[in-house]
Amino acid sequence: MKTSIFVAITANGQISNSRNVADWLSPEYGQGLFTICQKYKAVIMGKTTYNILAPNYLPLTNEGTTVVLTTDKQAKSDNPTVVFTQKNSSEIVQMLIEKGHKEAVIIGGTMTMSEFINAGLVDDIYLVMEPVIFGSGLPLLKNVELELKLNLLEVKKLNDNTVQLHYKVQKQS
Ligand SMILES: NC(=O)c1ccc[n+]([C@@H]2O[C@H](COP(=O)([O-])OP(=O)(O)OC[C@H]3O[C@@H](n4cnc5c(N)ncnc54)[C@H](OP(=O)(O)O)[C@@H]3O)[C@@H](O)[C@H]2O)c1
Repeated sequence: MKTSIFVAITANGQISNSRNVADWLSPEYGQGLFTICQKYKAVIMGKTTYNILAPNYLPLTNEGTTVVLTTDKQAKSDNPTVVFTQKNSSEIVQMLIEKGHKEAVIIGGTMTMSEFINAGLVDDIYLVMEPVIFGSGLPLLKNVELELKLNLLEVKKLNDNTVQLHYKVQKQS
């Protein structure tokens, strides 16, 4: 299965500001996120990201699988695509394969992306670089020791100030 990350970053690699307000994200990032989620029909996110998006802004509504990582065994959702899980990243990939998915997109946040990167389970990375710099905030990844090499597949200008970088992760030997 192909697993991609799709995330908005600042010009200095942050994914959130210290105010934790998403007023720096372009409509084009939102459209791109929606499009890839609709295309892949399998979306992975952490519970903190879920809490920000639910109930009205979850990218899948009826069809597909929205995997939400959480240790909260009581978590419930009205959205029929949502599966709350404590599984690790490789077990999640296995679960999605068993459900018939061939592609999945990880949409955040830092903890969730870091887990999949650490497990070597990310094939593609889409970085939507917004024209801002935050002196403090949340980095793209945390507690990731390995070094990954990437191949640039595409650079797309989304508007006057926003670019989308599409990378393929080189397989580690
Ligand atoms: N720029 C972007 O494109 C973008 C996209 C998405 C999010 N964000 C930002 O990212 C921030 C959230 O990122 P984050 O790193 O704090 O949180 P996150 O990855 O969204 O969620 C973390 C939570 O997921 C659960 N979790 C993670 N790994 C788990 C595992 N292996 N097993 C069980 N549960 C697991 C835990 O929830 P429990 O405590 O419930 O167990 C944990 O507290 C927000 O500020 C948001 O605005 C930015």
